[in-house]
Amino acid sequence: MTNPSGSQGDITRIVTVDNRQRRREHFDVRRDVFVVEQGIFTDTDEDSRDSELSTTHLIGVINGLTVGAVRLYPLDAGYEQWQGDRLAVLKAHRSSRLGFELVQEAVAQASANGGLVMHAHIQMPNVRFFEYLGWHPEGPVETYAGILHQPMVINLQGKSSQLA
Ligand SMILES: CC(C)(COP(=O)(O)OP(=O)(O)OC[C@H]1O[C@@H](n2cnc3c(N)ncnc32)[C@H](O)[C@@H]1OP(=O)(O)O)[C@@H](O)C(=O)NCCC(=O)NCCS
Repeated sequence: MTNPSGSQGDITRIVTVDNRQRRREHFDVRRDVFVVEQGIFTDTDEDSRDSELSTTHLIGVINGLTVGAVRLYPLDAGYEQWQGDRLAVLKAHRSSRLGFELVQEAVAQASANGGLVMHAHIQMPNVRFFEYLGWHPEGPVETYAGILHQPMVINLQGKSSQLA
């Protein structure tokens, strides 16, 4: 997919992780952002959700370089309630609409898998970004990993995937 808002000629793709190299690249982006840049995890932000078969990991690729990540997983056995988290774009590659595309693809995949609603815990500076993407606040602000997060939600009905 050509990115209309990025630098001219940039080729942006969202890819579902399906091999060890891409999985490593996904975790490397998350580590750079959540451990090194933000310092909200000490050594790694990986947790038990990453090992579950029902968890999908996505990467965002610009001109062949993996610079973005997000993951999604069902919260219930009926695959109706979904969670998205660990959204990250490397600092040097922000404002190219990659974050936008990662969120839209996570939403689309949850919808395609039968999801009705998707939830996320959003760092306060990003609440406006998620509102821009059609999400709504859901309940009071909470502390997660030592920082304030706004629970947010989006209705998944009618969303569809951009991937071929
Ligand atoms: C949040 C994050 C993923 C956004 O990624 P990004 O690739 O820079 O975002 P995009 O380029 O897709 O932004 C899309 C639009 O939202 C806007 N936007 C981006 N971040 C925003 C924010 N925090 N507040 C308000 N608007 C924002 C952009 O200006 C852009 O608007 P435009 O399309 O009108 O130009 C990125 O800033 C990031 O990785 N931050 C650090 C980790 C983090 O906070 N993760 C989320 C945890 S909840």
